[in-house]
Amino acid sequence: MLEQLKELHASALNELNEVSNSEELESWRVRHLGKKSKLNQILRSLGSLPLEERKDAGAHANELKKALESSLIEKKKALEEAYLVSSLERQRLDVTLPGWPIPTGRLHPITQTLEEICGIFKNMGFQVFEGPDVEWNYYNFEALNIPQYHPARDMFATLWVDSEMGGESRLLRTHTSPMQIRLMETQQLPIRAITPGRVYRYEATDATHESMLCQVEGLAVDENITLANLKGTLFQFCHCFFGDERGIRFRCDYFPFVEPGVEVAIQCVACQGLGCRLCSYSGWLEILGAGMVHPDVLKRCNIDPEIYTGFAFGMGVERIAMLRHGIDDIRLFYNNDLRFLRQF
Ligand code: FA5
Repeated sequence: MLEQLKELHASALNELNEVSNSEELESWRVRHLGKKSKLNQILRSLGSLPLEERKDAGAHANELKKALESSLIEKKKALEEAYLVSSLERQRLDVTLPGWPIPTGRLHPITQTLEEICGIFKNMGFQVFEGPDVEWNYYNFEALNIPQYHPARDMFATLWVDSEMGGESRLLRTHTSPMQIRLMETQQLPIRAITPGRVYRYEATDATHESMLCQVEGLAVDENITLANLKGTLFQFCHCFFGDERGIRFRCDYFPFVEPGVEVAIQCVACQGLGCRLCSYSGWLEILGAGMVHPDVLKRCNIDPEIYTGFAFGMGVERIAMLRHGIDDIRLFYNNDLRFLRQF
């Protein structure tokens, strides 16, 4: 019996040496200390031994049980320590590594362009004003010489808030020109103002047309303001914004609220004026409409056209940003594709 206990002890310790994780340790415990273990069988069979032998064998078997139990506890501790050391090793924190970069936002390219445009006009002495996106029919059309059945309403495909019946209907402004009226009604002369803002048009989009866009309106009213002042101001702006090399085209156009009316186009950046899809093969991209404020519009704002004259212009900010950055599709600005927006 003693021999058997010795062998049992030796083989249990050998097996314990091979144990390398908690699952193996548990199966070792079941094998050597569990109910069906050899040691347990020996302990249960002690009663059948003669008294003399029983005492001695019982003492040895209980000693072996204690020894195995304390070996189990030691091994458990050793395994836990080894696990702790290895997991600390794995999760070691290198405080000298650079941190994760904090994502920073940036201004939308249209906002950047707007700020640059406003900066140029501020340097020329223009003040900045803002007006409402939801506008009265009167300011958007009637006061600008565009009564209800005027064909020019076709130029401004309109999103109505109220029905068009009656003079008090509201709409999403189709251009920033209503601000000309609001300024002439409220500001003292002389006026030199720009008004940036969003405008809305009920029209299909394509590479150069959006249904929501930004415009910057300009207005100057004083004595002796001439078309030459308008041309000089717009050319100065174009030179500042696009550089001296880029071609500028200044020619007649029609808007009911100015007389004479003009438009300014810039040589296409995509084809350098040779003609491409972006410029509809004309070599030019129209950026603004302008003209001398119509005498009837001045009169409607209680300004005497015999004494005062004025010029006004309205430019499309998206078109200007496209020309500046060589972008060939206006829809890219509002698709919210970060791969595009991150470039600015
Ligand atoms: C106007 O909106 C007039 N209010 C401009 C004006 C102001 C004339 C003062 C005279 C005096 P127009 O519809 O052409 O005009 O628009 C002006 C500019 O806005 C265009 O030259 C173009 O650059 C831009 N624009 C017009 N429609 C769109 C559109 N759907 N998508 C992108 N840009 C546009």
